[in-house]
Amino acid sequence: MAEPSELELSRRGVLTGGAATAALVATPLPALAQGQAPATPAPTMPVRLTVNGTARELTLDTRTTLLDALREHLHLTGTKKGCDHGQCGACTVMVEGKRINSCLTLAVMHDGDRVTTIEGLGTPDKLHPMQAAFVKHDGYQCGYCTPGQICSAVAVLDEIRRGIPSHVQADLTAKPLATNMEMRERMSGNICRCGAYSNIADAMAEVAGA
Ligand code: FES
Ligand code: FES
Repeated sequence: MAEPSELELSRRGVLTGGAATAALVATPLPALAQGQAPATPAPTMPVRLTVNGTARELTLDTRTTLLDALREHLHLTGTKKGCDHGQCGACTVMVEGKRINSCLTLAVMHDGDRVTTIEGLGTPDKLHPMQAAFVKHDGYQCGYCTPGQICSAVAVLDEIRRGIPSHVQADLTAKPLATNMEMRERMSGNICRCGAYSNIADAMAEVAGA
């Protein structure tokens, strides 16, 4: 067993080591980088978007995703960031009428485009029919995926109306129908951690029927 003096020494050693680490962490970065060339500022570009019918002009770091441009620069936080890797669909918006994962595309690639977010679909007093159907059929629980689900659902019914085929059609040349299987297949990129899928399908069926 260690003598009390040894214990005292090791405790002091630990404290000294901790203080040294803290000093290192607290050292300002410029001091560490002395003598190095200053970092090049990130390249920026002007970007013009029409968001929910309103013309917006931004100057953005060219690496800014459309999702971050909407949320962080235009403060349209209805569009959600789930995975930020194109895997959950929470960030779905419509660009030129087509749905897109806004986390997977750069804002500068959409210069001049029309973007519709959940804020542009309806208002609390005048809901879009798909928003009203989600409320009626309880198509959400926590609601985090819901803006993306609704944007996707609106786009899916439009795709079906326009005759765009999907993997579950037996005959790719036939006009697609808004069947439960068809809608589930087309909505498969929108993940709901609360598992509201059946109710979302019911909401879509109602709007499709209407
Ligand atoms: Fe874009 Fe998940 S946040 S797909
Ligand atoms: Fe919670 Fe879909 S309602 S994740």
